[in-house]
Amino acid sequence: MCLISNISQLITNKKNINSEISIGGWVRNRRHSKIGITFINLYDGSCLEDIQIIASYKLNNYKNEILFITSGCSLKVIGKLKISPKKIQKYEIHASKIKVTGWVDNPGKYPISPKKHSLKYLREVCHLRPRTTIISSITRIRHNIALYIHNFLNKKKFFLINTPLITTLDTEGSGKMFKVSTLDFLNLKYEKNKKNFFKKDFFGKESFLTVSGQLNLETYACSMSKVYTFGPTFRAENSNTKRHLAEFWMLEIEIAFANLKNLINFAEKMLKSICKYILCFHENEISFLSKKTENNLFNKINKILLNKFIIIKYTKVIEILKNSKKKFSHSIKWGEDLFIEHEKYLTNTYFNNPVIIYNYPKKIKAFYMYLNSDKKTVASMDLLLPDIGEVIGGSQRENRIEIFDKRLKEFKLNQSDYWWYRDLRKYGTVPHSGFGLGFERLISYITGLYNIKDVIPFPRTPYNAKF
Ligand code: 4AD
Ligand code: MG
Repeated sequence: MCLISNISQLITNKKNINSEISIGGWVRNRRHSKIGITFINLYDGSCLEDIQIIASYKLNNYKNEILFITSGCSLKVIGKLKISPKKIQKYEIHASKIKVTGWVDNPGKYPISPKKHSLKYLREVCHLRPRTTIISSITRIRHNIALYIHNFLNKKKFFLINTPLITTLDTEGSGKMFKVSTLDFLNLKYEKNKKNFFKKDFFGKESFLTVSGQLNLETYACSMSKVYTFGPTFRAENSNTKRHLAEFWMLEIEIAFANLKNLINFAEKMLKSICKYILCFHENEISFLSKKTENNLFNKINKILLNKFIIIKYTKVIEILKNSKKKFSHSIKWGEDLFIEHEKYLTNTYFNNPVIIYNYPKKIKAFYMYLNSDKKTVASMDLLLPDIGEVIGGSQRENRIEIFDKRLKEFKLNQSDYWWYRDLRKYGTVPHSGFGLGFERLISYITGLYNIKDVIPFPRTPYNAKF
């Protein structure tokens, strides 16, 4: 069986024109002409393009099957590959045999009819939405960027570490975690002592789905130098925004002997490299998505590729925001986190550029970040992209055990829970840094689909895990 994506290659060899090929796919739409020919547009998801099938009345199942084919039917087609006389498509298949492998029940009610559907509607039919060109396009871009990242890191001598999804630690110290348990909560005796209560549980301890693989990743960075993990992470944040998912994919990298400056440089280089790749190899898909989203995605991607990122301290950012004439709905105060409206003002208006903010106040960042000599800020960084806001968050890690222990206390975290993490600081401690990149947020930016639910196959958000 040939994929549609292979046909453009096949056709470069003239010998293949008029040769017989067989393909399989789903009907986008079909048109019956009065002269006894049916034109069928077939897609198989392998590329952006559909292929036109020409079915003549001479086919033995023309009258009893072909005339009844509707959008969504699946077909196996054998036929001759021909250069198309019309300019709309480059080639077509003149069918010698068409087998309908799957009919559509009640075609009038087929949820993905050829008419235009809103993205909101498509979220209600997540199981069928990959049949649309927009969702399959995003899926191919997502796949290609993921592969590109693996290759990019491999070339730079990073090792892939599969960090665990189940954990007993609150990596970010934020408490927004999903519990993992096999206890039968409905039939349990009340137990006041939390420790004793979870002793009966599967892991003998209260356990969660991880919010980040970072702490485990650090153990490998402190022995294998350059490592990364790329997997799902879970956050029980009750925020139903266009930028938040309860389950999202995060690329996390960790580098030994790297400081914050090295990390910032690396993040910028990596993003630029991804953008270059997309523009070089996926131009047709980006051009299609530009039209669909009414966005000039080439300009947006070039914004990352061609401009030097703005690298600016948090303290300076607060000054800029305070001095701006724009009225924000959230007040600006040193020591407090930025809201998306502040981030957007910086990236879309003030700088009109990607922005990396570094040295945030220690109070608003995680316990593991390296304490700067001012004792007020930590060596952290957030990379913000226009329209999306934060796409990367990272830091140099606190590798000095005495300071780390003080930080644990400040966060009211138990030293004993972090015993193995502390061991890394006790045995051959090393300066090291790392970041996490929200994969869906990057895909949102590149594809111009600003609702994060549209760039992950099956979104998980509050009250929504239907598919
Ligand atoms: O800034 P965050 O919370 O950083 C960490 O988890 C670190 N442990 C990473 C590290 O240093 N290894 O998350 C990293 C990125 C954010 O910048 C954002 O892009 C994305 O993950 N992110 C989310 N994406 C979708 N939905 C959510 N609820 C997200 N929360 C964070
Ligand atoms: Mg963050």
